[in-house]
Amino acid sequence: MKRKILITGGSSGIGKEYAYQFAKLKKDLILVARNEIELKKIKKDLENKYKIKCEYLIFDLSKLDKINQLCKIIEKENIEILINNAGFGNRIPFSKTNYSITQNMINVHITATTLLTRAVLDQMIKRNSGKIINVASLAGYLFTSKSNIIYNSTKRYIIHFSKNLQDEIKKQNKNIKIQALCPGFTKTNFDKHAIFKTMLPRLPSFMYMEAKDVVLKSIKTLENRRVVYIPSFKNKILYFLLRLNFYR
Ligand SMILES: NC(=O)c1ccc[n+]([C@@H]2O[C@H](COP(=O)([O-])OP(=O)(O)OC[C@H]3O[C@@H](n4cnc5c(N)ncnc54)[C@H](OP(=O)(O)O)[C@@H]3O)[C@@H](O)[C@H]2O)c1
Repeated sequence: MKRKILITGGSSGIGKEYAYQFAKLKKDLILVARNEIELKKIKKDLENKYKIKCEYLIFDLSKLDKINQLCKIIEKENIEILINNAGFGNRIPFSKTNYSITQNMINVHITATTLLTRAVLDQMIKRNSGKIINVASLAGYLFTSKSNIIYNSTKRYIIHFSKNLQDEIKKQNKNIKIQALCPGFTKTNFDKHAIFKTMLPRLPSFMYMEAKDVVLKSIKTLENRRVVYIPSFKNKILYFLLRLNFYR
């Protein structure tokens, strides 16, 4: 069975950019998201431009039963690289959220990332090869209620999960690489969604990275030993400021 790269949140932003950059490298793809119109457009474009095979699957990863269904499908695939990228944010204080907003974010960021990883792990261990990119965020290092605390906390989980999993794999002496990608502000549709519109105006453009550069750097550093990867010098400075609790 041909090896494929599976990208959640492949319909937009960072996930879409991974799709284009891996298609350029002649990799076959499976894209997962909810927006079928976008996925169809991307599939057509990638197959025409790069002569690869691009499938797409419509799944809402905020729903536990859908995550489980997707796991059953991908267990039977031959996944070379899994990219757990789907995600969303908001600026609603925790005390003002309803149960479903919180549950949905936990499902997309934590449950989907964890269970999809579990679903590909057996085949990667058996093959003794594979890569998993978990898209976290610099927000995983934020300890402040000025931004969404569930967003920060779920992204922190992704960082811990990735580091601990890499350690478990290392002890089994398996050639599987885990990357926890921690982008800072990146130009995508992320903060254009309705749920974000109530917040402050967009930050000055020099604060943002292009999604293309984030993904290029992530792919380039996939062979590195380190699990956590922070793309760009300005984000590394932000990271150090966050570690000093500068943002409080
Ligand atoms: N942009 C930034 O500044 C930034 C910074 C740090 C980290 N990140 C992280 O980067 C990742 C990608 O975000 P982005 O910036 O590329 O934003 P984006 O352009 O809004 O893309 C988000 C992707 O996630 C998918 N998604 C969201 N909810 C989903 C659900 N319930 N089920 C399935 N797919 C879902 C969306 O697809 P559909 O809408 O088609 O379902 C879309 O493809 C996220 O994990 C985000 O937390 C972004």
